[in-house]
Amino acid sequence: MAALGLTYVRIGEFAWSRLEPRDGELRFEWLDKVVETLARAGLQVVMGTPTATPPKWLVDKIPEMLPVDPTTGRKRGFGSRRHYDFASDAYLGEALRITEVMARRYGSHDAVVGWQTDNELCCHDTTLSASDVARIAFQNWCSEQYSTIEALNEAWGNVFWSMEYLEYSEIELPVGAVTETSPAHRLAYRRFSSAKVVNFHDRMVEVIRLHAPGKFITHNFIPMVDTGVDNFALAAPLDFTSYDNYPLGRADIKFKDSPAAEFQKYMRTGHPDFATYSHDQVRGLSKDGFWVMEQQPGPVNWADNNPRPAPGMVRLWTLEAFAHGADCVSFFRWRQAPFAQEQMHAGLLRPDNSKAGAWQEVEQAIADAALLELQSEKKQKASVAIVTGAESYWVSDIERQSESYDFDDVQFDYYHALRAIGVSVDFVSADMDFDAYTLVIAPGLPIIDQAFVDSCEQSRATFVFGPRSGAKTREFGFPPELPPGPLQRLAPLRVLSVETLRPDCVDSLSWNGRRYESRVWREELEAPDADVLAKFEDGSPAVVRYGRILYIGSLTSTAFLQDFLGRLCKKLEIETHSIAEDVRVERRGDLMFAFNYSDQSQDLKLDKSVEILLGDRQVQPRDVTVWKR
Ligand code: GAL
Repeated sequence: MAALGLTYVRIGEFAWSRLEPRDGELRFEWLDKVVETLARAGLQVVMGTPTATPPKWLVDKIPEMLPVDPTTGRKRGFGSRRHYDFASDAYLGEALRITEVMARRYGSHDAVVGWQTDNELCCHDTTLSASDVARIAFQNWCSEQYSTIEALNEAWGNVFWSMEYLEYSEIELPVGAVTETSPAHRLAYRRFSSAKVVNFHDRMVEVIRLHAPGKFITHNFIPMVDTGVDNFALAAPLDFTSYDNYPLGRADIKFKDSPAAEFQKYMRTGHPDFATYSHDQVRGLSKDGFWVMEQQPGPVNWADNNPRPAPGMVRLWTLEAFAHGADCVSFFRWRQAPFAQEQMHAGLLRPDNSKAGAWQEVEQAIADAALLELQSEKKQKASVAIVTGAESYWVSDIERQSESYDFDDVQFDYYHALRAIGVSVDFVSADMDFDAYTLVIAPGLPIIDQAFVDSCEQSRATFVFGPRSGAKTREFGFPPELPPGPLQRLAPLRVLSVETLRPDCVDSLSWNGRRYESRVWREELEAPDADVLAKFEDGSPAVVRYGRILYIGSLTSTAFLQDFLGRLCKKLEIETHSIAEDVRVERRGDLMFAFNYSDQSQDLKLDKSVEILLGDRQVQPRDVTVWKR
């Protein structure tokens, strides 16, 4: 590891059965030796708490800790990982106990420079549980949130279908009913489940802080869409966030239903906006920079199909993460394991210790990073921010209304359109101060409060709202003044009705003398005194503007978003770049990076005076060019 030029090694994250083979029988000598060995080689250790894999004896001791699948009603048993219920206080106690033992032992060890909490919290759909402990915890949570059971009935609309409760102890989880349960009930269940995950994590961070003062604490996030929690709250106690980047596995999942022709060109590269979509979001959660804690170095084992990365891609993904603000990229895994579930998952070494395909690319990336003196280049804020948050995901899951309105896809479309015109993007939460931004985009923010409207009003930014903004009250009802609810203070329009269409039945809107697709989700807008920027076929308003507030009442196409946002950026003097389809650019400090995902070289059309630090003016296939701004 040291010879390759690695700096950090993360260990321990699944080691509970070896650290405590029997209840109370602690065996740390082997781990001490590992830490000493790494330290002697000059490597720095990131210690993982092993709580994602509670051992068998513990599961047998506390059977209530096993979660129950809310869809099937079946217990999710021992034999893989993440088999614990966030609502089980008994398990929380055990998790904190083993965390404390580890933190006391290694908290002040010089070589242990930081900590990773658990591993990929919520992965494998583990946020929600329909266990008895979860139901009782939910009842308690409800009694803290609502002053009386009558208030809860009122808030959830329980008079409808005679769903009223007499006592908190009667409250069911919104699972296993004959047909749809109340959306407010489901939203409450999401909020509760999120709060349980956050509490589990906060408590673990407290224990580590106490016994490992001065050391960093991070967590390796999965894609934001997959956690099902308020990621901003989850990240709050961390020094910085981390992300596990598997571009090919993710591409295989995302393009599952796409025609082969669309997918094949990205099969070995991933889509040019997938990895960075997560990097930018994870950076948005972080106080300062972020890490890639796991970077795919070759074929993985868990997607439906697991291709090899195209030559050059491991290096490209590594430098791309740095361009988007990563301070460290760490590879999963060091050596391919010749046994158990992940034996088909590539490492930097093969199971026989020979160097695998990615080795040489990692060597190259390390040399590149040194050449670019990345450490002295600080990531700056972007001019454009996308407002995101858990409630957008939850509302889109809970109230389908259209089989094809998926908040993550909607948000990705905006991101993709911006990246394709060379715009850098930050992701922010709705309670941020927007002052640093010129343009703020909310692709779908269904629950808006007065504080948010105040901060829109106070900032100087221009705002773009997508359909469904302000469409729900906090309790998942219709705003009394009609959507966009409180936003009407700044943009006095009313959404009179919503229609949703099959994705293959497309209508249109016209903007700037051209027709574009209007699809899936279309709103009937009443917009007195607005500037009507785009119209539906029948001449009714599709996109309207009230001063700095723009509202788009339809889902559209990438072509529309690129043209529309491109023109807006020009007007607002936001830097754009004219780049080839599968090229992306990003800025870090004084460095500009170009990444070529295509198999053709691409001319960057750089001025002769530009000083190239890495690569060519013609960025080569699957290669990187870096220049000084
Ligand atoms: C991550 C996880 C690792 C390993 C890897 C396989 O989800 O943190 O432990 O399972 O994926 O790609």
